[in-house]
Amino acid sequence: MLRAARARDRPAFIELLASPEVHAHLGGPRPRDVLERELPEVPGRWPGSFVVDLDGTMIGQVLLRRPAGDRLAAVGKVDLGYLFLPEVWGLGYAAEACTAALGWLDRVLPGEPVVLATQTANAGSMRLAAKLGFTEVERFHAWDAEQWLGMRSPVTPSR
Ligand SMILES: CC(C)(COP(=O)(O)OP(=O)(O)OC[C@H]1O[C@@H](n2cnc3c(N)ncnc32)[C@H](O)[C@@H]1OP(=O)(O)O)[C@@H](O)C(=O)NCCC(=O)NCCS
Repeated sequence: MLRAARARDRPAFIELLASPEVHAHLGGPRPRDVLERELPEVPGRWPGSFVVDLDGTMIGQVLLRRPAGDRLAAVGKVDLGYLFLPEVWGLGYAAEACTAALGWLDRVLPGEPVVLATQTANAGSMRLAAKLGFTEVERFHAWDAEQWLGMRSPVTPSR
């Protein structure tokens, strides 16, 4: 289930943000003690941030936002991001949750293109992007790694 964040998700947010595995291709984790101190009481509570809830427990986060980026093809566009706890990887939850979040976006902003940036070395993320229908716009080098920018063409609203 996708839902807004609640105060009881805070420990799961700390797990996600402090995990070296989760951040292997995302510039590294943040120190747990800093997160414990600095995260708000309800982290990740903003429009476009979805907690992925499995039987009452947070297992991941899906994000739809318009970040200030410098890639021309991505400027001003909605960007899809996703983070899941390692113990649930490979079970299909990311594909299911991202499909649901994109479906929501198609309903609230019909025709909106979505971009997705990931390291090419991030095999799971690359596979997920392809599965969700993103196709390559460009590859570029940044943060000491090859990056991939993909785009999902807008779904034509049916009459
Ligand atoms: C990327 C991530 C979200 C994938 O989550 P997941 O729950 O394992 O994804 P799913 O189970 O829905 O799998 C989606 C597809 O990717 C494939 N896949 C998942 N992990 C993979 C891996 N390490 N290597 C190759 N393929 C992988 C799955 O097999 C599936 O493809 P298939 O249906 O053709 O078999 C998860 O690994 C993660 O949270 N990583 C850390 C955060 C991150 O790097 N986010 C990217 C930000 S840009």
